[in-house]
Amino acid sequence: MTGAPISRRRALGLIGLGTASVAVGATGWATGLGAPSRDTSGRDLAQPRVLASRDGVLDVSLTAAPGVRLAGRDTLAWGYNGTCPGPTLRVRRGDLLRVRLINHIDQPTNLHTHGLHVSPRGNGDNPFVTVAPGGSFGYVYRIPADHPPGTFWYHPHHHGTVADQIFAGLAGALLVDGGPDPDLPVTDDLVLLVTDTTLDGAGRVAAPNMTARMMGREGDLVLVNGQHQPVITATLGDAQRWRVINGCVSRVLALRLEGHRLTQLALDGAFLPAPAERDQVVLAPGNRADLLVRPVRGGRYTLVADPYDRGSIGMMGGGPPASGPVALATLEASGPAATPPSLPVTLPAPSAPQGRVARQRRLTFAMGMGMMGGTGTGTFTIDGRTFDPDRDDQTVPLDTVEEWTVVNTSPMDHPFHLHVWPFQVLATSTGVPPTGLRQDVVLVPARGWVRLRIPFTDYPGRSVYHCHVLDHEDLGMMATINVHQ
Ligand code: C2O
Ligand code: CU
Ligand code: CU
Repeated sequence: MTGAPISRRRALGLIGLGTASVAVGATGWATGLGAPSRDTSGRDLAQPRVLASRDGVLDVSLTAAPGVRLAGRDTLAWGYNGTCPGPTLRVRRGDLLRVRLINHIDQPTNLHTHGLHVSPRGNGDNPFVTVAPGGSFGYVYRIPADHPPGTFWYHPHHHGTVADQIFAGLAGALLVDGGPDPDLPVTDDLVLLVTDTTLDGAGRVAAPNMTARMMGREGDLVLVNGQHQPVITATLGDAQRWRVINGCVSRVLALRLEGHRLTQLALDGAFLPAPAERDQVVLAPGNRADLLVRPVRGGRYTLVADPYDRGSIGMMGGGPPASGPVALATLEASGPAATPPSLPVTLPAPSAPQGRVARQRRLTFAMGMGMMGGTGTGTFTIDGRTFDPDRDDQTVPLDTVEEWTVVNTSPMDHPFHLHVWPFQVLATSTGVPPTGLRQDVVLVPARGWVRLRIPFTDYPGRSVYHCHVLDHEDLGMMATINVHQ
């Protein structure tokens, strides 16, 4: 198969469920492997349990272990504290967040607070920590008093198994509250943590083959808060805030809500300067969007993830169309006709980073195709190298602003993600005008580039940047940054 584009569908058909996995029923369950029990209790979208701070402190333990309910059924997938997603951690700016991570899975793990602007050192948001099976580790995160309020998330970050562990169910929402809060006329504030996975008839999470890892695996089952196509009920006149988190390992979510335009309030935990009406909101893996949903007519409307072509690993490029569309959830609106509340005109958007650009850098994301053919693995590199935790790839003086151009020479999109220090997108090769917001994941188009402005303020220490197609990250598409005083 060298040289030929390999379709995602085909790659998924190969991932080790046997031939039956090719035939997938409407619910995403492989047919012939035993019908799933009908889910009668799990129709309405449920919210993960919320653990909120009190008096400036949130002290929690998170136990990673197998055995959670998914799509209305008991499975051998993994969760934190017995659920997938894990509990929603809710803190205020200025708080202290303490997390004792307890590892009851059979491989090393750790924890990352995706998007938080906190220290990467020691027991902070340190991606170099390893928590052995049976072990535990105490993380302490000091949320700065000026942290943007918004939607973030947590997930494991142990290099080599990040994709496996998130695909198996380890993820949760992390919300930061506190001013400047916009005056939102919100009746419901909902987390929609989207994940995907593939389960066999016995409820075991399927392991991908190398081809699926190279494509970036996409699961057969796309879940919202661990539920399959849940229903979100709304009364006409309601305004619901939906905090959509793309927790999928590789899948890009091109979100659309039937019968509605989407009103986007925030991206990656940063408010837009004003609510924006969009037909579609595209979230790369790791991205979040806060949406305001105000149904005007009664009815059932599907929240859809439209097909999105991430490119192909074939040498010819121009791969097959991506799978989809996928129904994520249904909005059920009813009640007497009512006018939804009007929106605030402005939102408390953080000001764009200012300051002289001290240095420009150019980074290159590349895929080596030489060994495709069913025996070897492809290579996934940044600046020609795979990840080495002991090497400093970029050293940056603290309190400087830099401009990075991230180039993608491969025929697939790669979502660029930097820990700790959010960035502003200045321009991309697609010509689509950037939002100007601070964000922490951006899609670098196939054979294209993005230019970023990054303020390295507040936190010295070592951390990482990587492709958030987490199979690529695990295959080596990650590098280190050392911000020093
Ligand atoms: Cu969402 Cu390095 O991670
Ligand atoms: Cu991250
Ligand atoms: Cu990638």
